[in-house]
Amino acid sequence: MKIYGQPEDRIRQAVASGDVTIAVYGLGKMGLPLAAVFADAGARVIGADIDEDVVCGINQGICHVTGEPGLPKLVERNVGYGRLSATSDLVHAAEAADVMVILVPTLLDYGNKPDMSIVESVCADIAEGLNSGDFVIQESTVPPRTTQNLILPLLERSGLPAGDFGVAHCPERTASGRAIIDITGAYPKIVGGIDDASTETARALYSTINKKGVISVSDATAAESVKVFEGLYRDVNIALANELAMVCDELGIDATEVFDAANTQPYSHIHAPGCGVGGHCIPVYPYFITETVRSRTDMLRLARRINDGMPAYTVDLLESAFAELNAGISLAGARVLVMGVTYRGDVNETRFSPAIVVINELRARGAEVFAYDPVLGALVGRFGAIPYDLDSAAGTGGTDEAGGTGGIEEMDAILIASDHAGFGELDWDLLGERMRHKVVVDGRGILDPAMLRSRGYLYKAVGRP
Ligand SMILES: NC(=O)c1ccc[n+]([C@@H]2O[C@H](COP(=O)([O-])OP(=O)(O)OC[C@H]3O[C@@H](n4cnc5c(N)ncnc54)[C@H](O)[C@@H]3O)[C@@H](O)[C@H]2O)c1
Repeated sequence: MKIYGQPEDRIRQAVASGDVTIAVYGLGKMGLPLAAVFADAGARVIGADIDEDVVCGINQGICHVTGEPGLPKLVERNVGYGRLSATSDLVHAAEAADVMVILVPTLLDYGNKPDMSIVESVCADIAEGLNSGDFVIQESTVPPRTTQNLILPLLERSGLPAGDFGVAHCPERTASGRAIIDITGAYPKIVGGIDDASTETARALYSTINKKGVISVSDATAAESVKVFEGLYRDVNIALANELAMVCDELGIDATEVFDAANTQPYSHIHAPGCGVGGHCIPVYPYFITETVRSRTDMLRLARRINDGMPAYTVDLLESAFAELNAGISLAGARVLVMGVTYRGDVNETRFSPAIVVINELRARGAEVFAYDPVLGALVGRFGAIPYDLDSAAGTGGTDEAGGTGGIEEMDAILIASDHAGFGELDWDLLGERMRHKVVVDGRGILDPAMLRSRGYLYKAVGRP
């Protein structure tokens, strides 16, 4: 059933009774959870993806996205009920569907210019299968005005004018590892259409799956801006925290103590400093503004520069720790174990991870770099480090998987680059007993400095002189 412009109760009924068919373009980390949630609400859902392996797996009820609690069960159940299927025939998916949701990667090119080519290609496929009364939803994060200036004209190549079909931007606001709870109600959904009927249709559709409700904004450009601005807020505020933490290093005061005390005022929200900002959202979205508007964007550019400089600053801390140790050791020739390579703790995501920049920086300064990541395992070898298997909770007896050397007793330092929960639980007494030099640089500020110092470690963290 075509739902564009229909009253809310009819839309709710169409979803619950399986009378509406929704095609979700892109069955990745975000697209598959959304497809599964719509199917679980009753809709017939076709996942449309160019990856044949993904399509084949979904049709067998197999969930290829890892680290999303609840998702495998949702996929299995709804494929079993016949409500969720997948295809690589992208035009056919549009022909068969009443609603098409675009949730594919939006990237930067080598000059940091937004690259919307995947969205463009999906729009071309949808246009070929577009029918009167269809409703197209753009969920991928895009620069403001993309719906109006890029997506709409591409869809109008179908021969249908806007108004014969509806379009809305309804940004994905979830984070890896929390997709299902985020989609179904951790925050309200934001929707903004190219016309009032589109906005209303989107509001009614998402209110069937989001318990926190739906916020309608004036148009698609406003909705696009909501999502991008959330990311920019984080980037700028993390840059501020990083800059203030470096000031604390110079002043010889503890940034955590100062920030915590300052944040007891309701107007102060100083973030946590660290070795950098990663993931394919926060470090990317600033360019969706700086590279697309004429207005001055000095603050956004400066924040990017500060955050991009944090991996090198963290390696500087290690260099200064070796100098302080005064044991004739420097980064050149040192063996350093980087702990954590994912961009955030306990998620399987390495895109734009500052840990990778840390590894490259250490190697450029002559260190021999090992890496241990409980989520990635031996895959850390992809990033230029020697995979290191810290094989017990006590953190002893590790071997490098390249040649069997590099036990913990040969490590000169540990540098923590992502905040995996287990790192705090390691037996730091035992590790310290065995390491060649007891140096820890905590790029995420997750360890207790007093605990490590009382065990004889030379401990440094950003903003904790
Ligand atoms: N991952 C996150 O935490 C997150 C959070 C919020 C928003 N987003 C946004 O969601 C969007 C999608 O991100 P993701 O993390 O799901 O990406 P992903 O890389 O996990 O998955 C993308 C999927 O799209 C498929 N694909 C690529 N080209 C295609 C095409 N032409 N037609 C159909 N399918 C195609 C790929 O095969 C893959 O399965 C991005 O715009 C991102 O900015 C992501």
